[in-house]
Amino acid sequence: MITALVPGSFDPPTKGHLDVVERCAALFDEVIVSVVHNPSKSPLFTAQERVDLLEVCCAAWPNVRVAAFEGLLVDFAREVGAKTVVKGLRAVTDFDFEIQMSQMNRHLSGEVVSLFVATKPEYGYLSSSLVKEVARLGGSVDALVPEPVAAALKERLK
Ligand code: PNS
Repeated sequence: MITALVPGSFDPPTKGHLDVVERCAALFDEVIVSVVHNPSKSPLFTAQERVDLLEVCCAAWPNVRVAAFEGLLVDFAREVGAKTVVKGLRAVTDFDFEIQMSQMNRHLSGEVVSLFVATKPEYGYLSSSLVKEVARLGGSVDALVPEPVAAALKERLK
């Protein structure tokens, strides 16, 4: 039984995130979408709200569950018995920071292996930060995020 974590901020989840989750659902026995809860940050959506949104968005994949974690990712991985962490790579610019994080995780725990999935080219420019900026300024994000996320953004930013 191979469990993979797909960790992230997911503030909010985008279609790019869900593309990575869908690919992982086809590859691994179990996937845990792991929402970071960082009390020193002020996200637009609380960790619980992000979990709720992701649960709705991932409902079609029976081997995917969603959980929030606080603290080190490697500790959460140990707690749930996962040794694989998957992150999406949009472009070479992502690689710089992602490799740094994966090597730090390897330093912290020799057990955890990081894997990278190339995102769909059409989502190569997509980020939660840009989605929030466009939504705040009144632009349409309907093509960039799942419908429940678009609705939650409208409600939060009205
Ligand atoms: O969506 P993001 O912002 O790229 O996700 C980053 C995340 C949440 C995966 C990363 O910040 C993380 O693992 N945070 C938990 C704290 C931690 O373990 N830090 C040390 C290893 S980099």
